[in-house]
Amino acid sequence: MFTLEFFTGTEMTDIKKTQHEEWSSRFAFILAATGSAVGLGNIWKFPYITGENGGGAFVLVYVLCVALIGIPIMMAETLLGRRSRQNPVNTMVLLTEEAQADKNWHYLGWMGITAGFLILSYYSVIAGWASAYVLKAFFGSFFSADAIEIKGIFYDFIASPIQLIFWHTLFMVSTMWIVAQGVSNGLEKSVRFLMPGLCLLLILLVAYAMTTSGYFQGLNFLFRPDFSKLTPGSVLTAMGQAFFTLSLGMGSVMVYGSYLPKSVSIAKASIIIASADTIVALLAGIIIFPIVFTHNLHPDSGPGLIFQTLPIAFGSMTGGWLFGILFFVMLVFAALTSSIALIEPAVAWLVEGKGLTRKKACIWSGLATWLLGFGTIFSFNNWSTFKIFDRSIFELLDYLTANLMLPIGGFCIAVFAGWIMKPHHSEEELNLPKPSHHLWKILVCYVAPLAVFLVFLHVIGIL
Ligand code: PFF
Repeated sequence: MFTLEFFTGTEMTDIKKTQHEEWSSRFAFILAATGSAVGLGNIWKFPYITGENGGGAFVLVYVLCVALIGIPIMMAETLLGRRSRQNPVNTMVLLTEEAQADKNWHYLGWMGITAGFLILSYYSVIAGWASAYVLKAFFGSFFSADAIEIKGIFYDFIASPIQLIFWHTLFMVSTMWIVAQGVSNGLEKSVRFLMPGLCLLLILLVAYAMTTSGYFQGLNFLFRPDFSKLTPGSVLTAMGQAFFTLSLGMGSVMVYGSYLPKSVSIAKASIIIASADTIVALLAGIIIFPIVFTHNLHPDSGPGLIFQTLPIAFGSMTGGWLFGILFFVMLVFAALTSSIALIEPAVAWLVEGKGLTRKKACIWSGLATWLLGFGTIFSFNNWSTFKIFDRSIFELLDYLTANLMLPIGGFCIAVFAGWIMKPHHSEEELNLPKPSHHLWKILVCYVAPLAVFLVFLHVIGIL
C-alpha cells in the first residue's frame, strides 16, 4: 500500500539502491492524483477567474489548454517520476545523468519545491475560509439570508485578521500533522468517499441552479464564447489555471508517478484524471453563475465569489442546512488532499538535502508557510491598499506561481521528456501504440512548449 515516505541520501549510488513502494492498483493512483488535482482550484478559483475574465471564451481556452498542453505534460511528468522512482529532486539528478544532459536540469526540482511552498501559503488561508464556513453553515448563519446579508457575512469575516489567522493556523497544523505521519491510509481512503460525495453534492446543487431564474444566463456566460473579452493576460491566466488545477509543473505529479506500477497505462490514467478534474470545475461554474445572475451579483467579484453565492443556495433550498455543512466539509477535505501534495516536495528536500527528521522538516516548512500566509491574510484587510506591481501580496503570489512558475516548470518538463530523454526510454514508459505515441510526441515536443512560449512572448509584449 502507498505511503509517501522519502528516502535519505542524495548520493547517486544511494538513489539507485533505495527500494520504492508501489500503489496497490491503478485505481489507488488515480484516486490520489485526483485528490491532489481536485481542490480549491476547481471550486473556488475556476469560477472566480472565469468571472473576472469574461466567461465563455476564457473557459474554451482553459479546456483547450487542459487537453493539448495539460494532458501531454501530465503524461510527461508521470513518466519522469515512474522512470526514476524517486522524489522530484532525485528524479532530475538521476534522469539528467541517464540522459547525459546538462546539470542545470537539477534546478527544475528546486523550482517545484519553491512553487509548492508559495502556493500553500495562500491556499491554506482560503482553505481556512472554507473551514470557517463549515461552522457558519452549522450555526445556520445562511438561513433565509438574502444576497446582501450573505455578502455582509463574507466581508465582515475577511475584515478580521484574527479570525483569518485562527483558521489558517488550524488548517496548516492539520496539514502538517498529516504530512508528518507520512500520508496515511486513512487519508487515501478518505479520497474514496470524498470524490463521489463531492460529485453527488455538486450534481444536487446543479439541480438547484436549474430552478433559479438566472440559469440560462449563467450557462450563456459560461459556455458562449465572446472573444472580444479575451486579452493576452486572460489567455495566460487560463493556461496557468490548467497547470494549477492539474497540479502540474512542480513535481507533485512526478512524486505520484514514482509509485505507479509498470503495468499501468500512464496515458489512460492521465486522461481520466484530467477529465474528472475538468468536470468538477465546470460543474462548479454551472452552479455558481446562475446564482450570480439570479441575485444581481457581479461575476467579477473576485476570490470571495463562491462564499457570496453558494450560501444563498444553502439558505433557501430544502435540506440546505445539512448540504451546506457537508459541502464545506468536503471542500476542506479536497483542499487538504491538495495541500499535502503541495508541501511534500519541500518536506522531502529538508529530509534528504538537510538531513532533518520528517517531524522537524514538517515543523520548519509548516512554520515558514504559515508565516508567509500572513501576507495573504493582510491582503484582505490591514494591507489591502499595499500593492507591488499593482497587485496585493495574495495576487502577486498567485500570479507568480500559477501564471509563471507552473507554466515554466511544465515547459521544462515537456522539453526534458520530449527532447532530452532518450526516445526509447519514454517509449518504454508510455508503452503506447505507434500512432498514439506519435501524437504525444508532437504535443510534448512542439505544441505544448511552443504554446507556453508564445503566450509568454505575447504577455511581455514581444509578439
Ligand atoms: N490542483 C490543486 C487545486 O486545483 O486546488 C492545487 C495544487 C495542488 C496545485 C497540488 C499544485 C499541486 F502540486
